[in-house]
Amino acid sequence: KRIVVLISGSGSNLQAIMDAIQSGQINGQIELVISNKADAYGLIRAKNAGIATCVIDHKAFDSRESFDLAVQQRIDTIEPDLVILAGFMRILSAGFVRHYSGRMLNIHPSLLPKYKGLHTHQRALAAADKEHGCTVHFVTEELDGGPLLVQAVVPVKTDDTEATLQARVHEREHIAYPLAVEWICADRIRVCEDGIYRDNELL
Ligand code: GRF
Repeated sequence: KRIVVLISGSGSNLQAIMDAIQSGQINGQIELVISNKADAYGLIRAKNAGIATCVIDHKAFDSRESFDLAVQQRIDTIEPDLVILAGFMRILSAGFVRHYSGRMLNIHPSLLPKYKGLHTHQRALAAADKEHGCTVHFVTEELDGGPLLVQAVVPVKTDDTEATLQARVHEREHIAYPLAVEWICADRIRVCEDGIYRDNELL
């Protein structure tokens, strides 16, 4: 499968996916990494792996729609099977999301449907949750609201701070995201008409 990854920062999830491709776990190829920030460390990770990169700075556009259209046009030159959001810190417009319907993934640092949006670790601590984690999901027009694909659960410890909890979740993201991408690249996931995604091997 042909993959495009969108990032804004460190790109440790991008790294985990690149490593899983390298090791043969994922049967796919990252054709392009796009960042909206020129100084994103993930761009260096991609270059080190010999992957093409591109910066599209949202500040150079006067609307969300015009930025999204530029990103869409760049992505579509690749004709990807899968678009992966890996710490891409922009909310995408409805048209963009619809265009990649059923072939765009995101990872969110909470056990969705809990804690959509920002500050998820802080909110899990404030609620005294016993468990927290991350979710890989398909992207739909509802922010952090698309069908869930993989969740990784971690314990919340009594002496946790936001930083220690975030680190524990982040470590699990690096397992959960490659796993979801592995399944999609192996054609084990199918979009059914009722909007539920099932393992092909069970159908
Ligand atoms: C992760 O915490 C992910 O859950 C969120 O953005 C962060 C990306 O981290 N969507 P990295 O850039 O992959 O290290």
